This record gives sequence, structure tokens and C-alpha cells, in this order.
Amino acid sequence: MDAPQETTRQLAPTQAGITEAARLLSAGALVAMPTETVYGLAGDARNPDAVAGIFAAKGRPQHNPLIVHLADLDQARALAEIPQRGLALARAFWPGPLTLVAPLRAGHGLAPAVTAGLNSVALRLPAHPVARALLTAFGGVVAAPSANPSGRISPTTPAHVLAGLGGRIAAVLDGGACAVGLESSIVGFDGEAALLLREGGISREALEAVLGAPLGRDASGKVTAPGQLAAHYAPRATLRLNVRAPRPSEVWIGFGPECEGAEFSLSQTGDLEEAAARLFAVLHAADAMGRPIAVAPVPERGLGAAINDRLRRAAAPRRA
Ligand code: TXA
Ligand code: MG
Repeated sequence: MDAPQETTRQLAPTQAGITEAARLLSAGALVAMPTETVYGLAGDARNPDAVAGIFAAKGRPQHNPLIVHLADLDQARALAEIPQRGLALARAFWPGPLTLVAPLRAGHGLAPAVTAGLNSVALRLPAHPVARALLTAFGGVVAAPSANPSGRISPTTPAHVLAGLGGRIAAVLDGGACAVGLESSIVGFDGEAALLLREGGISREALEAVLGAPLGRDASGKVTAPGQLAAHYAPRATLRLNVRAPRPSEVWIGFGPECEGAEFSLSQTGDLEEAAARLFAVLHAADAMGRPIAVAPVPERGLGAAINDRLRRAAAPRRA
């Protein structure tokens, strides 16, 4: 990536800070905004220069489409044809950590790069009050991938954003630490059949309870959610999984009460929601120690499925 070029301002989550963030978005600038999942790198989704800036700031491949963030369901339905099952999920989980991928409507006005040229769009109504206030103040639609350099650990605090993108974006709007801590669950559709394209902040079990049917996996064999590439969320250090007895050189990340002596714990009590909320912050902190990382086993149920998904990608061999 190029050298940093601008001073990134820190905006407080006050009326003045939110108004300034909305003004920056209207001017085509990029603002990191808090959401309940992770911080997003927000830009005006209808402004091709702003959208190009998002890809440039993150070093993101052009073929990886962005999620569009909206203030209300009517805006979402104006952009895309959401199938009945998608509307059922939207009513149950929006605003919240759910993204729906649905066919674009004509006249959507999005910059083509937002959808990477696909005829579908990913939509989400975030629940974080500061995100909602910013979307309402801006009035438009906001494209926002996670506010980290492409392929690295997602940010759950303003400090994480500044460490990764400081000097490359206009501002970060401070909304504190993200409560959910994992990116949204992404659901797409094959006709009326719902497919889980990315495990995330809502468990498969909770989604299926609303659908009344099992979620399918994407069977096309294509990477339809390109963020699903094997190597992702990568710390600088190497990472080993399912480790009950770490090597002396390793930083150990524990889960549950039996991991005595671990430098970090995702949750002392073995609570999966707490572990999800802490996951990326613990990975950032462990990575800063400059030693190999070992992580204790995390059960696969509930949010554990998404936690293990992120850990497997963080441990996968790197391309570069
Ligand atoms: O929680 C979240 O979803 C966060 C916050 C900021 O909202 N955002 C986020 O964005 O995780 P990002 O860019 O890191 O991940 C977006 C994912 C990628 O895997 C992308 O490929 C997928 O959404 N995606 C976007 N548009 C798509 C589409 N039309 N079809 C399939 N996948 C799509
Ligand atoms: Mg991301």
C-alpha cells in the first residue's frame, strides 16, 4: 500500500461528531463508523470516487463486493428484491448483525464497484445507535466493509482502526468497543431457499428457528462471498488451533475455566457470546506480543461456529 497521506481525525459520538461525520460522507470522504459487529469503513455508496477510495484504503481486491448499510427496511426494499424468507429474517433480526444478499432493482444508483459488477447486493441495517444516527444524518446509503487492511484482523475498537488505517481515511467516529465482535451473518437465496454464505453474529440455530427450515450451503462451488477466502483475518504471527498444552514459545489464548496460565482468555466461564465479543481484540493483543499464538478448543455450537470459522482463516497458510 502507499504511504499514509492524511491526518485521521477522531470524532466523538456526540451530535456535533455525527453531523461532521455525515458532512464528510456527503463530501466523498471516508469515515470509520462503529457498528455492533465490527467497525466499518463507510463511504457514500452512490459516489464512485468514494467507493474507489474504500478499495484503495483497504488494499481490497476489486472483485470483493461491499455491504450496503441502511437506516430502514424501506430503503433496503427500494434497492433489492428481497424474497419472502429474507423479509422474515429482516423482521426478526434487523437492525442487527444480519446481512441479506438479494437481486438488485433497476435504478438503484449504486456505484458499480459496490457490487463488484454482480446483479445482487448485500444489505444490512446495523443496530449500533451511533451507526443509526450517522445513517439518518447522512440520508443516503453507505458502503462499509470492515475497517481493516484487506486480509487482516477486523477492528472492534477505534484504536484497532487507527492502527490499521490511520493516515488513510478522514476520520473515525468513536462508538466504543463493538458488542457482538464478529461480522454479520450473511444469508443469500437460491429462489426461496436460504443459504448461509458467511457464519457470523447470529447463530445458524437462531436463523433456522425463524426460517423453520435448515439453511443451505452455497452449492455453486464459486466463491460468492469472496471474504470467505481461506486465508483471512490474519495476524502477523502464526496461529495453532485446538491447543490444550501450548509450547513454551507460544502465547496461549484460553477458553473456559480449565486454561490455567493462559496469557489471554476468550471467556473464563466458557461463554460463547463473551468469546465472540473479545475474539478480535484478543487476537490483536496476542499478535502484538510478537510470538506464535496457540488457541484452546472452542465448541462448534451457537456463535462457536463463527468463532471457529474466523480462527481457521486466521490460521490458514498465507498467499503472500
Ligand atoms: O458485520 C459486518 O458485516 C461488517 C460491518 C462493518 O457491517 N462488514 C463486513 O464487511 O464484514 P466485509 O466487506 O468485511 O465483508 C463483506 C462480505 C464479503 O465476504 C463480501 O464478499 C460479501 O460480504 N458480499 C458483499 N456483497 C455480496 C454479494 N452481492 N454477494 C455475495 N457476497 C457479497
Ligand atoms: Mg472484512
